[in-house]
Amino acid sequence: MFDVNKVPTPCYIVDESALIRNLEILRGVSQRTGAKILLAQKAFSCYHLYPLIGEYLSGTACSGLYEARLGFEEMGKENHVFSAAYRESEIDEIISYCGHIIFNSFTQLDRYRDRVLAAGKKIGLRINPQCSTQEGHEIYDPCSPKSRLGITRENFREDDLEGVTGLHFHTLCEQNSDDLETTLDAIEERFGDILPKMEWINFGGGHHITRADYDIPRLEKCIRRMQEKYGLEVFLEPGEAIALNAGWLVTEVLDITKNDMPIAILDTSAACHMPDVLEMPYRPPLVGSGESGEKQFSYRLGSQTCLAGDVIGEYSFDEELRIGDRLVFGDMAIYSMVKNNTFNGMPLPHILLLKKDGSFEELRSFGYSDFRERL
Ligand SMILES: Cc1ncc(COP(=O)(O)O)c(C=O)c1O
Repeated sequence: MFDVNKVPTPCYIVDESALIRNLEILRGVSQRTGAKILLAQKAFSCYHLYPLIGEYLSGTACSGLYEARLGFEEMGKENHVFSAAYRESEIDEIISYCGHIIFNSFTQLDRYRDRVLAAGKKIGLRINPQCSTQEGHEIYDPCSPKSRLGITRENFREDDLEGVTGLHFHTLCEQNSDDLETTLDAIEERFGDILPKMEWINFGGGHHITRADYDIPRLEKCIRRMQEKYGLEVFLEPGEAIALNAGWLVTEVLDITKNDMPIAILDTSAACHMPDVLEMPYRPPLVGSGESGEKQFSYRLGSQTCLAGDVIGEYSFDEELRIGDRLVFGDMAIYSMVKNNTFNGMPLPHILLLKKDGSFEELRSFGYSDFRERL
């Protein structure tokens, strides 16, 4: 893998070879279908890699002004933006960076339509097909009851579509293409009369395309269905799939204590450096470990912070952990560095690139000023 003792801790390591493997899969989908794939920056905004990503993908998808600017300046290809609402003070700058502006309501459309059209940019509407295909993660389900994301058919105004050329939906989270197929059925059922009036459709993100069991032929069938039946240009904006399993978080064991079971205190934090572990919640993979009790030595892994629940999980190892040991969490490129924080004054992890030739390049290092400057 790499020499864990050669890197500072805590640090994220982005794996260039793994990223390229994902990008090749995604480019294959584009090449076979003509669909354009955009990087959803909210998952992975490590812009140092944007020139590389831009060699494989069509551009970036953004959630607001700052991501719009980052995508524009650092990749400079197609740039699509969706926000639940745009501020008056930001919309003109956003329009200047993006080719496609997607609105979440007819109020927003009516307010900004003329400015988008005057700039020669394209307008889309996010629809809500009210078709939940995921269970147990209401926080990640834009089709959950009372969701604010997307216009439901009941609130859709087919008499107010002047200048609107596309529809956008985002309903999936880490899902396979069978759920996309189900969602397209719901879209045809509820918005089937609108589709022929459009020029493009954006399938959003949540497509786990680079996961080993993902059914790519079925995805391509879904894309062709929209292309052939309605003559639509198809966009996808996955985030996770682009940098899935393309990064690590390396941490050091600072202490070992005991309370009912052995506890290892690490110089990383779920709350600060991998917030999805607590938000989702999930147990991140850890290189060389097993489930608690599976191997001879089990530990609860927790952080330096004051938060009682700042626990990453229980893991087991073939050998006893010692102070100074390095541990390597997997799949830490996505929704990690974009979401981290300095709660308790925790340092932000350094960001390193593991290059194709096996050498490291430091992309960013952080210190006290990064903590102080944001307060
Ligand atoms: C509108 C939109 N597009 C794309 C994405 C990316 O999703 P994922 O990283 O799950 O592929 C998200 C994630 O929340 C989203 O809200």
